[in-house]
Amino acid sequence: TFVVGENCIKCKHTDCVEVCPVDCFYEGPNFLVINPDECIDCALCEPECPASAIFSEDELPEGQEVFIELNAELSQVWPNITEMKDSPEDAAEWDGVPGKLQYLER
Ligand code: SF4
Ligand code: F3S
Repeated sequence: TFVVGENCIKCKHTDCVEVCPVDCFYEGPNFLVINPDECIDCALCEPECPASAIFSEDELPEGQEVFIELNAELSQVWPNITEMKDSPEDAAEWDGVPGKLQYLER
């Protein structure tokens, strides 16, 4: 499965949702997640993310293992998203900022 990692938090560009053939992205207040049971591992979303926040589960950067569980958990409670929307106005300022997990809103 593919996993949305930390750099999506507060960037949330949503380009990823437009290419997913099985519409398995789910949207929270400032982060998106992938439902691991629905993802078919097509890899199409990974290069679409302007924040390079999407990884194959096996290639998650060190320290981001917690995002595997977060994607599984939050995709059960957040609504589906299939159409791109505007990024937050300050998305560029947050790109690459370390330690964004503390800002995750549920
Ligand atoms: Fe969707 Fe493919 Fe990305 Fe999985 S890898 S979330 S199926 S676009
Ligand atoms: Fe997040 Fe990148 Fe999608 S910032 S919303 S994973 S395009």
